[in-house]
Amino acid sequence: MRFTKLAALAAFALAASAASAQTVKIGFITSYSGLNGNLGPYMERAVRLYLKQHEKELGGVKVELLIRDDTGPNPDKARQLAQELVVRDKVNLLAGVIFTPNAMAMAPIATEAKVPFVIMNAGTSVITTRSPYMVRTSFTLWQSSVPLGQWAAKKFKTAYSLVSDFGPGHDSEEAFGKSFAEGGGKILGAVRVPLQNPDWAAYMQRVKDAKPDVLMVFIPAGKTATAVMKNFSDLGLAQAGIKLIGPGDITTDEELPNMGEVALGVLTVHHYSAGATRQANKDFVAAWKKEYGAGETPNFVAVGAYDGAALIVEAIKQQKGKLDPDKTMEIFKQWKNPASPRGPIAIDPETRDIVQNEYLREVKKVDGQLANVEIETVGTAVKDPWKELQKKK
Ligand code: PHB
Repeated sequence: MRFTKLAALAAFALAASAASAQTVKIGFITSYSGLNGNLGPYMERAVRLYLKQHEKELGGVKVELLIRDDTGPNPDKARQLAQELVVRDKVNLLAGVIFTPNAMAMAPIATEAKVPFVIMNAGTSVITTRSPYMVRTSFTLWQSSVPLGQWAAKKFKTAYSLVSDFGPGHDSEEAFGKSFAEGGGKILGAVRVPLQNPDWAAYMQRVKDAKPDVLMVFIPAGKTATAVMKNFSDLGLAQAGIKLIGPGDITTDEELPNMGEVALGVLTVHHYSAGATRQANKDFVAAWKKEYGAGETPNFVAVGAYDGAALIVEAIKQQKGKLDPDKTMEIFKQWKNPASPRGPIAIDPETRDIVQNEYLREVKKVDGQLANVEIETVGTAVKDPWKELQKKK
C-alpha cells in the first residue's frame, strides 16, 4: 500500500515536471561582430528584458535562446547557422537578424522547415514576401523615407541622396526620391556608397559641389552613423549651408554620445526615439536602465526586438508552449499593441509587416544629453508603402 502510494506520487511528480518543463527553443541569429556588431547586444538584451518581465505569463513554459553570431552582413553564414538551428537543434522559431542579406538568405529555410521567423530589424521591404513564415516587428525603409520625403518637399527645393549600396539603401533612395519629387522637390543627384569603409571625403565633396538644400542619408545604424556625422561636419557641408536629413538610422540613439555636438539640429523621421515621452516608453527606458545600468539606453533595434518578443510570448501563451507553425503565424498576424514604447502598433495580417507611426525628430540637448526629440507625428498607422504600391500595379 505504502509502496504503491509512493509510486503513484512519484509518477505524478514526474508527469507534473514533464508538463512544466515544456521548452520553446528560439534560434536567435544577430550580429555581435563585424560591421556594426555593437547592435546585436541591443537585440538580445531587449528580448531578455521582455521575457523576464513576462515570465509569469508563460505558465511554466521555458524559453531557450540559442544565440548565434552571424558576423555582420554575411548571408552565407546566416544561412548555415539557420540550417543548423533548424535541422540539428530543432528550434521552434527563428528570430533576430540585423541585416537584410542575412534575412533574405534565411527565408527558404523558414519556408521549407515551416519555422516561423520573427525579423527584429532587417528593413528592406521585399524581405517578408520571401516566406509566408516571416513576420517583421521592426520597420521598413519605405515607412520612414516616404514621410521624410513628403515633409522635406514642403521645406526644401533641392536634395541629394547618399545611401549604402544594399537593399535598405536602395529602398530609402527610391522612397525618398519618389515622395520628394511628388511633393515638388528636385533631386540633384543620388549616390550609392559601399556598405563597408566608403571613401567619405570623395562622396561628401561630390555632394558639396552639387549645392543641394539637403542631403538625405541612409546608412546602417551603429558606428557607420557616427562616421557619416563626423565627415559631414569635418568636410564643411553644414558650413556650406547644406542640411543633413534621413531616416532615424543616421542619429541612432546609442551613438549620439559618440557623435557629440555635430549632431545637434539634425532632423530625421523614424518610428522610435529613446527620448520619447509617452508613458510606455518612459517605463521601457527605466526598466532598461534598471536592468543594464543607468548609463545604458535602448535604441530602435531594441524596440524591434522587445515587441518581437511580445509576439513570441503571445504565441506561447495561446498554445501553452506547444507551438504549431501555422497557428503561430495566425497569432502573429492578429497581434496588436496600443501602447508599445513606440506608440500604437499592429501586424498587418496581409503582409506580416508592422503598422506604426512615424515621427519627425530633432537632435536636441535634454538634461545635458543629446536626444532624438519627437516634434511631430508625420505618419499615422503607416503600412509598408512599397507593398501598398505593388497592390496598385
Ligand atoms: C538592414 O540591413 O536591413 C538594415 C541594417 C541597419 C539598419 C537598417 C536596416 O539601420
